[in-house]
Amino acid sequence: MTRRAAALLTALLTALLTALGLLGCGATGEPSQGATGSDSGPTDTAEPGVGAPGIGDPDFPLDGNGGYDVAHYALRIGYAPARRRLDGEATIQARATQALSRFNLDLHGFRVSGVSVDGAAATFSRDGDELSVTPAEPLARGAEFAVKVAYSGTPRPVRGSSNLGTYGFIPTADGAFVTAEPNGAKTWFPGNDHPADKATFDFEITVPAGVTALANGELVSRTPAPGGGTTFTWREAHPMVTYLATATMGRFTLREGRTAGGIRNLAAVDPRFSAALGELYSRSGEITDHWVTVFGPYPFSSTGGVVDDFAAGYALENQTKPMYGGFEPGESIIAHELAHQWFGNSLSIERWEDLWLNEGFATYAEWLWSEHTGGDTAAQRFKTAHARPANDPIWSYPPGDARPDDLFNESIYTRGAMTLHALRREIGDRTFFTLLKTWAAEHRHGSVTTEQFTALAERLSGKRLDPLFDAWLFQPRRPSA
Ligand code: TRP
Ligand code: ZN
Repeated sequence: MTRRAAALLTALLTALLTALGLLGCGATGEPSQGATGSDSGPTDTAEPGVGAPGIGDPDFPLDGNGGYDVAHYALRIGYAPARRRLDGEATIQARATQALSRFNLDLHGFRVSGVSVDGAAATFSRDGDELSVTPAEPLARGAEFAVKVAYSGTPRPVRGSSNLGTYGFIPTADGAFVTAEPNGAKTWFPGNDHPADKATFDFEITVPAGVTALANGELVSRTPAPGGGTTFTWREAHPMVTYLATATMGRFTLREGRTAGGIRNLAAVDPRFSAALGELYSRSGEITDHWVTVFGPYPFSSTGGVVDDFAAGYALENQTKPMYGGFEPGESIIAHELAHQWFGNSLSIERWEDLWLNEGFATYAEWLWSEHTGGDTAAQRFKTAHARPANDPIWSYPPGDARPDDLFNESIYTRGAMTLHALRREIGDRTFFTLLKTWAAEHRHGSVTTEQFTALAERLSGKRLDPLFDAWLFQPRRPSA
């Protein structure tokens, strides 16, 4: 059986189990409304008026949810690092895309103490990471509604399969390191945890005195909390996918200002990395300004970076605030994370299988940065990568079809970048760089697919490019150079 067929089978099985009331149905024994015999896919409801437990990503059948579209999250979080205790109140503004007698949110762990919809108490139940909410009154298709969830407990990060490691809300000695790709937002707030549903965010985070809370977007206020400690209010006014949301907390040294090009810039480092603050601040500013010349206008209100002392060994492109876990970032990785602000963040993927649109582009940006600063050219990087032996794993893993069991395989990064270089050679520098800017402009703050990218490349170049994309993205073998 092909992997695609396996994914389809999983989706069908999920729909069937949902119809039978075996999934997304309350641990409190809420009665199932019975099967309807519908053969709908995972984005449709298996029962009339019931939102699906997944948004319809065949590779991650329970991620996100069906039946509504979130517009805004208002997250009030209190966190006590010493007790590892989080008290949360999430208010989610959404619009029903179908009639809803019940819908789900994604939430991992915690005790939920109350749920309301439009101010009226709702009944709810838990089943794994699915929180099912039954509003007092059913919601009409098209209705805008606000759901409020009160929850508390010790956040538990998730341990992903194979190469995903531990991610989500990761408690540290002085706070928390919050990097949630691909589906760890549910470890700290309830929501529609899939990149296909973007929303704006307000954060109100209360932490003990001396602790700084860093979330996405801009700091609106910083005030003494009535019960002691400090409340940090942040606002991300541009649409954001859930995995890019952060509420990183701890002791931090900050440097704030503007890039030479006038973009707000904030660097924050754990005191253990205070020697890296100046370099992080100036490199982040310099590279952001350079990407504006290559990719077009900066999509958000600020740039910057955060270095925490949690030894993750990796970085994540958290919107406006890329995070580096336990190391001083060099210019290449800064170039990578900042390129993601355009490719991955402003333009986010509709389905995880298209992850190369994030990682291939950000890796190619590393090559472009190297070329720009007089290091190896992109052509040299391409040549070195292409010289990998025929049995190198990147040749058997087609990057256009990222697999859930090995989502961040190196092929997605390196062969994804090679795909862009092969394209650049085929259509020429002029069209290629116009393509990058047009891609970023046409889908600014939107969701994208591989098909949209290949169609745009064909439109701008006037060439038929299927053979190139097919060989580079979809074949399990090394393309000829
Ligand atoms: N997107 C990250 C990068 O390439 C890598 C990554 C994947 C990650 N999953 C993560 C980082 C989880 C932190 C947490 O830059
Ligand atoms: Zn990346």
